[in-house]
Amino acid sequence: MSSAPSSTYSAVTLTVNGEKHTLTVDHRTTLLDALRERLDLTGTKKGCDQGQCGACTVLVDGRRNVSCLQLAVAAEGREITTVEGVAEGDRLHPVQEAFLELDGYQCGYCTPGQICSAIAVIEEHAAGWPSAATDDVRPEAGPPPLTPEEIRERMSGNLCRCGAYVAIVEAVARAAADRSAAKEVAA
Ligand code: FES
Ligand code: FES
Repeated sequence: MSSAPSSTYSAVTLTVNGEKHTLTVDHRTTLLDALRERLDLTGTKKGCDQGQCGACTVLVDGRRNVSCLQLAVAAEGREITTVEGVAEGDRLHPVQEAFLELDGYQCGYCTPGQICSAIAVIEEHAAGWPSAATDDVRPEAGPPPLTPEEIRERMSGNLCRCGAYVAIVEAVARAAADRSAAKEVAA
């Protein structure tokens, strides 16, 4: 069997959880496969591999991104954060704590993607981004209350086969409330 022409491969430097990794990858390699198969960061899960389930969600420059739809070569120069990188040392991220305390998972397969999405959802909401569930989308209206309906809409790209949605919504609400309280104390 002949090997693939070298023109289909490139060296790419990925910055993942603050560390730079230089890899030679086939141009067709997804960010998801590069993370899991080349960097052993298996926290990010492969569910559908076609952008439908959210299991592979990571943060790219702070925004959520389904890594099965992004080519690794297109992620060069971006700050990628996987679920392995959201805690600070031994201190879990508040979203991770909320998922643990409120049982926001069952089998846990979707959980890394849910957590990465939730982190970005809370920031998107705090920045005033509306969702399809937002009644008043005028900028002057400010962020809408983060109701269960808002959370369900904003998290709707992350499926959970175990149906742990009730606790997931509670965990996102808890983490968002904790974030607001912390901001008020700091102000
Ligand atoms: S594995 Fe990427 S969205 Fe399902
Ligand atoms: S906890 Fe099992 S798929 Fe969500």
